Amino acid sequence: MSLQGPKTNALFNKAKAVIPYGVNSNFRYWGDDDTLIATRGEGTYIWDADGNRYIDYRLGFGPIILGHGYPAVVNRVQEAIKEGTIFAWTTPYEIDLCERITRMCKVDKVRLTNTGTEATMHALRIARAHTGREKFIKFEGQYHGMADYFMFSTASSNPGSLGSKRSPINVPATSGIPKGLTQYVINLPFNDFERLEETIEAQWGDIAAIFVEPMLGNAAGIMPLPGYLEKMRELCDKYGIVLAFDEVKTGFRIANGGAQEYFNLQADLVTYAKALGNGFPIAAIAGKEDVMMTIQPGAMAHGGTYSGNAVGTAAGIATLELLESEPIIETINKRGEALMSGIGEILTEANIPHALPGVPSMFGIVLGVEEEPQDFRDYFKGDGELYENLALQLIQRGVQPDGDAREPWFLCYALSEEDVNETLNIFNDSVKAAKT
Ligand SMILES: Cc1ncc(COP(=O)(O)O)c(C=O)c1O
Repeated sequence: MSLQGPKTNALFNKAKAVIPYGVNSNFRYWGDDDTLIATRGEGTYIWDADGNRYIDYRLGFGPIILGHGYPAVVNRVQEAIKEGTIFAWTTPYEIDLCERITRMCKVDKVRLTNTGTEATMHALRIARAHTGREKFIKFEGQYHGMADYFMFSTASSNPGSLGSKRSPINVPATSGIPKGLTQYVINLPFNDFERLEETIEAQWGDIAAIFVEPMLGNAAGIMPLPGYLEKMRELCDKYGIVLAFDEVKTGFRIANGGAQEYFNLQADLVTYAKALGNGFPIAAIAGKEDVMMTIQPGAMAHGGTYSGNAVGTAAGIATLELLESEPIIETINKRGEALMSGIGEILTEANIPHALPGVPSMFGIVLGVEEEPQDFRDYFKGDGELYENLALQLIQRGVQPDGDAREPWFLCYALSEEDVNETLNIFNDSVKAAKT
């Protein structure tokens, strides 16, 4: 059965005529019958072109922390853009937003940009320029955006081809990447203390940075084992390596100060995007004084025509103002705890072994496993097909998680207790239908 109603189908066919596969990001393509077209969003709900309403747990892949079309943010943007949008001069909006980020995230300096991809790409250059080294460590199943260097062994790669855990293979996640780039990338399995230490001890003189999503926001929200991030911090300090937290998903979501606050650990560089602007394009590279001051006009490049534009900065200011003044994350966490415990009970009652890794504002559902996965390879021990069937049943009934269990469930402030209850009722029905 297709997820598309007649109006959605007609629009999708028009989209396909001018846009490859009808989508502006490959991750949005769910096949010719199931790719949906959104026409409206409000609060925690979105509507498709046929007028069907969904409780949205994708939230545009995570940015919507308050709610779709959140009035305080939309109004602030509308006010700002009446005065113009970009000037190629610094604006008071940029100063205001960067001050808020330094305060909330306990970083010394910030540069603004527009997307997570741009932020990580610039962060990698800063780390290389700062250390004079060229390689970097990343972890299997982590995604750091679309820049070529990062597109090895991402969440889209097949675990069958990752090689042995002792000597992982860099698997390109796409065609079109120069083969030579693989020499600069060291992929490691997450949560493997021994591999991390051995690798750094053997190669530290070549390693500029560790890039890490502190929790696996692109692989079902797998959490770091106690002491693992601390081990990274210790090794980076010992060997002069830049510790770069990619907080594009965790920033301004798992705590006001993101993963640094949640795990009580400061990185040297941090990248933010998504929740920073509640759905408007704004991103940031932030970090410690000495690392950030590697940027230098005429010597170490960071730039962008749209960096610090009025649309993104106004949205960022409005979003962070609310996060600092209202119990946004606490409320989301309360709803998330209720949702996770309800989901857990329903799955247990249905005799489906499961794990719910992550935190209440952003958690995964891995079916068919007795223990919580610790890395990307573990994740594949789960029953992805059963999850896909379940997601299909949920979406048909008006609850929208991603169809792929790697993408966590995201919650926003607009989600009410009633929405959680409605979700759990639908979840219960969907589990029964998916099992049959
Ligand atoms: C951890 C992480 N880093 C970077 C990115 C890339 O961000 P963008 O899609 O804004 O380029 C993403 C996107 O999902 C992400 O999850």
